[in-house]
Amino acid sequence: MVLDAVENVNAKRILEIGCGSGIVSLVLARRNVEVVAVDVAMEACKNTLDNFKRNRLQGVVHVVNGYLATAFRDNLVFDVVVSNPPYLPVDQSPVEDLSWAAGKDASFSKKLLKNVLPLLSDTGVLFLVQSSLSDVDGLKRTLEEKGFLVEEASFRSFFFEKIILFKIYRKHSSL
Ligand SMILES: C[S@@+](CC[C@H](N)C(=O)[O-])C[C@H]1O[C@@H](n2cnc3c(N)ncnc32)[C@H](O)[C@@H]1O
Repeated sequence: MVLDAVENVNAKRILEIGCGSGIVSLVLARRNVEVVAVDVAMEACKNTLDNFKRNRLQGVVHVVNGYLATAFRDNLVFDVVVSNPPYLPVDQSPVEDLSWAAGKDASFSKKLLKNVLPLLSDTGVLFLVQSSLSDVDGLKRTLEEKGFLVEEASFRSFFFEKIILFKIYRKHSSL
């Protein structure tokens, strides 16, 4: 869903939060854009870098082992931010849960938005994956109160949940 959504997006600099194997960043990097791929797990960062090397694309990516976008200075902006973050409403106790557990109160997504939205350029877009099992209405409300538009770019339905890709951007940005 993320790859389909960003296929025609015009961007010079893209940030991925939670790159995992690096597959999303890798596909984006083929388009001659500057890609910054962040993951809190060192293994994921190594895996991403390794996949870039295997595809001879290591020259176009910055792989950052960090927590959300806390490694970046305030005035660094991105045209596109993509994230398929941990989104299930369960607590993040064991480290292995970092790939899917977002805290019972969806606190991870709230932290992500607080940290990442200031890095979006004026016309920037955030593509964010969420699950219907988490508080998506609350998340949408928070974003709308902050002056963002939230569109459902696409979704996949499973028997127990709906996975939704949200497209989030500033109201005034006529996208
Ligand atoms: C659902 S996986 C997505 C992996 C990959 N982007 C994909 O779509 O296949 C979530 C990723 O977020 C990373 N992650 C979890 N907490 C994070 C944080 N605070 N900052 C950065 N990355 C984080 C996990 O290590 C994991 O690799």
